[in-house]
Amino acid sequence: MDLRKESLGFGKVNCVDGSKLTIKAESLKSIDGETTLHAEVGSFVNCGGFHGDTICTITRVLIEEVERRESIIENKIVEVAIVGSTDANNRFTRGVNKLPTVGCDAYLLNGDQVNFLLGINLNEREKKKYFKVGQRSMKGAGDAYLHLDKLLGRHTAIVGTTGSGKSSTVARIAQSILENYPQPRLVFFDIHNEYRNAFSGKWKEKSNCIDWDKFSLPYWFLDLDEFINIYYPEAGGTQKMYIKELIESLKKKGVAEAEKDKVSVDSPVFFSMEEFLGDIEKKRDKETSETKKDPFNKMLLKFQSIQNDTRFSFLKTDVSNKKSLSAYFTFLLGLESGKQKYISVLDLSGLPAEVRTICVGVLTRLCFDYRYWDMDPENLPIALILEEAHTYIPEDSASKYSLCLERVEKVAKEGRKYGLSLIVVTQRPSNISSTVLSQCGTFITLRLTNDMDQNKIRRLLPDTLGDQADVLSSLRDGEALVTGDAMTLPGKVQFDLPEPKPKSNDVRFHKSWVDGPPPGYKVDDIAKRWITRERNLEKKE
Ligand SMILES: Nc1ncnc2c1ncn2[C@@H]1O[C@H](COP(=O)(O)OP(=O)(O)OP(=O)(O)O)[C@@H](O)[C@H]1O
Ligand SMILES: [Mg+2]
Repeated sequence: MDLRKESLGFGKVNCVDGSKLTIKAESLKSIDGETTLHAEVGSFVNCGGFHGDTICTITRVLIEEVERRESIIENKIVEVAIVGSTDANNRFTRGVNKLPTVGCDAYLLNGDQVNFLLGINLNEREKKKYFKVGQRSMKGAGDAYLHLDKLLGRHTAIVGTTGSGKSSTVARIAQSILENYPQPRLVFFDIHNEYRNAFSGKWKEKSNCIDWDKFSLPYWFLDLDEFINIYYPEAGGTQKMYIKELIESLKKKGVAEAEKDKVSVDSPVFFSMEEFLGDIEKKRDKETSETKKDPFNKMLLKFQSIQNDTRFSFLKTDVSNKKSLSAYFTFLLGLESGKQKYISVLDLSGLPAEVRTICVGVLTRLCFDYRYWDMDPENLPIALILEEAHTYIPEDSASKYSLCLERVEKVAKEGRKYGLSLIVVTQRPSNISSTVLSQCGTFITLRLTNDMDQNKIRRLLPDTLGDQADVLSSLRDGEALVTGDAMTLPGKVQFDLPEPKPKSNDVRFHKSWVDGPPPGYKVDDIAKRWITRERNLEKKE
């Protein structure tokens, strides 16, 4: 494809300064068939000459008036940053061998040329590596595609102020993935019960939305750390040792003779909680003095209080059928033959924040272990979507987050090798674990208004974006600066609206305050739901 289209020429290079060039423009727009391309911040430019082609992005446009004898003329200066060059096949490659020379012609690049450079219109198989998510924001710059393997291969962060369109962007990406790839595996940790709506309608067949009151995380899948963290965080060294030995012996009981030696306290094997508590009671009764009985009484009290706490009922949902690890993952990942599901939405909205933190930590670890024990990482790569990640993997190291942080950070660091990817979604990038953020290879930055958040993200953006990084606070809903591995030529992208949308929390105050509450509105109903914790009543309508 011709990257030096006569009609798209707009000026000549007049200064070369390392990786920055200045172009003296004759005009700031070029007509390209039906569309008009503008030389605006973010547009792509090819500086072509004897040295070859150099691909740049515009970082600044300057128009100044200069007095020349009697008349006043306009000087149009366009500053660009070099992002790469072309290889022997005329495809984009990072880095340059030869810099352009002064006097070299500068051409704007249209959408087709940009996508050709990226190799998006190659053969069918190559094409499959990319999927379309929206349009580049610059006029005439064409459709925007993401590279699937790079997007998920090295984790992705989606950040933006509340209401900037994060959930919609995630839903759009997931829907595009469903459209383009027949068998993806995405697991959503849905904090606000938003995604059920996004995967209704034509996506319903392919998705599995698990209500929070059906959500299950059997206690026998917990490793020792997690078990203690949930049931008895105050346990001392001796008590931990005792609990470890007891669980281990109970787990060994549940497996065949040949496997007994191999089962440890962390093995996800069923054991009975009644038996566990019974054994502690027996041990207590054997003690002779009250002081020696005391630690066992405390232990029993703690265990029983968690057992009876309705907020933790998900730990024993599957006690009666002693759910096995394979049954659990077959369901969670939608692997039942004949009824395959590709999107799992775990509604965690009903869980109190501290319980949710533990659940996310444990589920992340379980998914990691699942991938670890699957010997080929390409068998079933999984992407986990962590919504509102600042609520459970914050930067601060309060001990209540440490379990979750440790587990998610481990996946951030090692998940890639095992085909487990994270999509971290947050409105407070300045408040989220730096370890996780720094492992992300792609950043989708929606509107960000807070200074601290902007600075944290700005430090992660490449210099070549120039003035584009200043627009973070004025991006539109669903518009993002996309940089990193999945978007070889970084820039602003307007994401398509998902269809259907996630349940948006944009409340229409005016509607309610004009019409008043709906007929039959009863405070009583709210109180009842509050007490019985039946938030899902609206679904039954
Ligand atoms: N691509 C888009 N084009 C146009 N409007 C959009 C787009 N994406 C989102 N919006 C609008 O922006 C609003 C907020 O979207 P969304 O709920 O996704 O934001 P959010 O960043 O997830 O907010 P929160 O942090 O509160 O969860 C919605 O009303 C939605 O219609
Ligand atoms: Mg949201």
